[in-house]
Amino acid sequence: MFSFGSSKSAIGLDVGTYSVKMVHMKKGSAEPQILSFGIAHFPNEGAVASDGQIVDPNAVSEVIKELFKSSKVKPTNVVTCLSNQNIISRFIKVPMMADNELEEAVKYEAEQYVPYALDEMNLSFYKLSQVEEDGIAQHFILLVCAQKDILKNFLNTLKNAAVTPQVVDVDNLAIINSLEKAIRPDEVTAIIDIGASSTNINIIKEGVLKFTRNILIAGNNITNAIMNVLKLDFAQAENIKTEEVVVSTSEDSEDNDVSEVVRSIIEELASEIRRSFDYYKAQHREHTINRILLSGGTAKLKNLDVFLANELGVEVEKANPLEGIVANVANVDQLNEHLLELTAAIGLALREVM
Ligand SMILES: Nc1ncnc2c1ncn2[C@@H]1O[C@H](COP(=O)(O)OP(=O)(O)OP(=O)(O)O)[C@@H](O)[C@H]1O
Ligand SMILES: [Mg+2]
Repeated sequence: MFSFGSSKSAIGLDVGTYSVKMVHMKKGSAEPQILSFGIAHFPNEGAVASDGQIVDPNAVSEVIKELFKSSKVKPTNVVTCLSNQNIISRFIKVPMMADNELEEAVKYEAEQYVPYALDEMNLSFYKLSQVEEDGIAQHFILLVCAQKDILKNFLNTLKNAAVTPQVVDVDNLAIINSLEKAIRPDEVTAIIDIGASSTNINIIKEGVLKFTRNILIAGNNITNAIMNVLKLDFAQAENIKTEEVVVSTSEDSEDNDVSEVVRSIIEELASEIRRSFDYYKAQHREHTINRILLSGGTAKLKNLDVFLANELGVEVEKANPLEGIVANVANVDQLNEHLLELTAAIGLALREVM
């Protein structure tokens, strides 16, 4: 048999604080294909802490093992990610130089930005673009540092689930990768992933990431508020949130306590997003953010997109990570239902099969 690389497949694995997501993809003859996918929830809350750190490694590895087993997929060529929350990322500028010198220069810069000893950190960097400052050409670089202990803990947890990843990326970079086709080069786009514990804001201009920030307001805040108002347990409140809650755009006399409390959380989230936009605009002398793309499970909250568009005065779309990808799966409806949660996992696998 000849191989033209068309059978090359990869698995994207995203361990979130709410659920683990897995997407199996392969190179197609024209477009990459999704062959299968799976989502598994943690049986108990708190296996992964809200800051993304693994608290109960056994519970997490059991869920991952079970996910591969039930999906009937072998964990080979796995690409995974750490949560952006566990990463120190900084944008830095370094004068133009050869690649072999760049690493040393970045390390030198990192010492000034990273509040830990560098030998306790895994350090990595991405060349984003070239910029000119005071007439001098510079590399614009994203510096990415993870504490060695956090990465080690994560890798051990995966190892106990018989998973040895080829690559460990960062979730927000995977999300951006998966939505690359939706980013118009002439626009300033904000990609906002709203998960269970945190919301990650990324601003991209001319195809280059310019700003990233995490906010600790997301789906769990809404569930917890519903639990308090209606005196329900977590699962019941989740059910109300996903089935019944609609974010109301105006203060309405018909509003009940749940709508009010949900709206006040989303208002707070919107004002944090606005604050990030204002900071970005001031830093980059920018007037407009043209478009917001939403991903993550909480992006499915009914009417959230309309509410944010009104509140922020920016066009808002739910992201479509299937653009340019063939869904070669048996359960297309289920895939579509969970696409927004699967965005990062798709972006991870995509890197290997493009
Ligand atoms: N239809 C829906 N309406 C509202 N919220 C939803 C819906 N479906 C899922 N969610 C919420 O989405 C969240 C899970 O999303 P996601 O899988 O992106 O989170 P995660 O990646 O595990 O979390 P994080 O990124 O914060 O670690 C949960 O809070 C869940 O309740
Ligand atoms: Mg997530």
